[in-house]
Amino acid sequence: MIMARQKTKRNANFWFGKRVLVTGGDGFLASHLIQALLAEEAVVVTTVRHNRPLHTSFLLKENGDDPAQADIEHINLLGYQDVKRLCDRHQFDTVFHLAASAIVSDAANSPLSTIENNVIPTMNILEAARVNKIPRVIVASSDKSYGDHAFGETEKLPYHENYALRGLDMYSTSKVCTDMIAQAYALQFKLPVGITRCCNMFGPGDLNFTRLIPRTIMRLLSGKPPVINIGNEKVLREYIYVEDAVRANMFIAEQLQEYYGNKKENIPKSGVSVYGWPAFNIGSYSENETSEDSKRCEKIKSVVDIISMLRKDIRNIEPITIEKPSNFIEIPDQFADSSKLKTLGFKPHVSFDEGLERTVAWYKKHFDVLEKIAHRYTNDH
Ligand SMILES: NC(=O)c1ccc[n+]([C@@H]2O[C@H](COP(=O)([O-])OP(=O)(O)OC[C@H]3O[C@@H](n4cnc5c(N)ncnc54)[C@H](O)[C@@H]3O)[C@@H](O)[C@H]2O)c1
Repeated sequence: MIMARQKTKRNANFWFGKRVLVTGGDGFLASHLIQALLAEEAVVVTTVRHNRPLHTSFLLKENGDDPAQADIEHINLLGYQDVKRLCDRHQFDTVFHLAASAIVSDAANSPLSTIENNVIPTMNILEAARVNKIPRVIVASSDKSYGDHAFGETEKLPYHENYALRGLDMYSTSKVCTDMIAQAYALQFKLPVGITRCCNMFGPGDLNFTRLIPRTIMRLLSGKPPVINIGNEKVLREYIYVEDAVRANMFIAEQLQEYYGNKKENIPKSGVSVYGWPAFNIGSYSENETSEDSKRCEKIKSVVDIISMLRKDIRNIEPITIEKPSNFIEIPDQFADSSKLKTLGFKPHVSFDEGLERTVAWYKKHFDVLEKIAHRYTNDH
């Protein structure tokens, strides 16, 4: 499924011939981003750690799709010399650093490798970008970096980019580190870094079956009840369709030079405006929407909301509730104010309902090949 964006006049030729590195090429977001960059005729290189038997990019392709492919480099981003050689060889002008241990529950079970994997490659990419003077680097942080802002008197929801980063579980902590290191490179070395703090992405191609939407779809398609962790029924999360997340990532990269100024004169020197200045929330919430039920942004949903929608769409099976694992820290309600990105001119296009419809259709279409890899998460309760 190739997503050629509607080209605006201003960026009509922005990606043509650009040499772009996307790390973690077989991941959910990376697979979509690579296809979108190829559709805009960028020269794309991607890194993968190992060959998966089932390629996400292959599953996303539809008959008649353009056969353009990324150049695949098999390297482990934990080694600085490998990353440096990669950058020397390809002379990138844009990097999207997306590779990460990206699953909250996996991180709880493997803290050491999560911190290592989410921190060291970020250092290596940023250091190579600094030495090689790469003109734009996008680093994936997360809305999880903000952690708990649901209670207390100050810095209340929605999250703003200058809020303190309070992520306290292992995944969120690793993303706080990623985020702070990237901010330091931007502010200390004037490296043009755009840090993305995206809300929960969903869409075709997410093979991470611990996540609510893929897991619930696969369970319902398998005739199994959806699973709710006790106490999480009403916790709010903000969602964005993957195609919009891709557009947001590309949009931020396109805007970076202007955002920083030709001589990086826009970088603030001190004070509150410094905190989170290189960061951008990616979501759908805007100032005139509120979290109150009556006026809630259509993309802010509870677990129960999502499960009910999927039961209606797929099969009406009553959910079961289970105890959370004792090492699982659930951040309370989460949603961000994305007006910084909106003011620069970005707007998501795909409504939650439409995105969910497309997502369900994709999992239905590929159910036979996905059933085996999802089995552990469809048959554990
Ligand atoms: N999915 C979401 O809702 C969401 C929200 C906010 C931020 N993010 C962030 O966006 C990025 C992409 O997320 P995703 O959902 O596509 O995750 P994903 O798990 O689908 O993809 C991550 C990819 O990185 C690869 N990888 C991990 N460590 C690597 C290493 N050392 N070397 C090479 N490759 C490595 C993995 O093999 C995987 O293919 C991640 O950084 C994630 O933390 C995701």
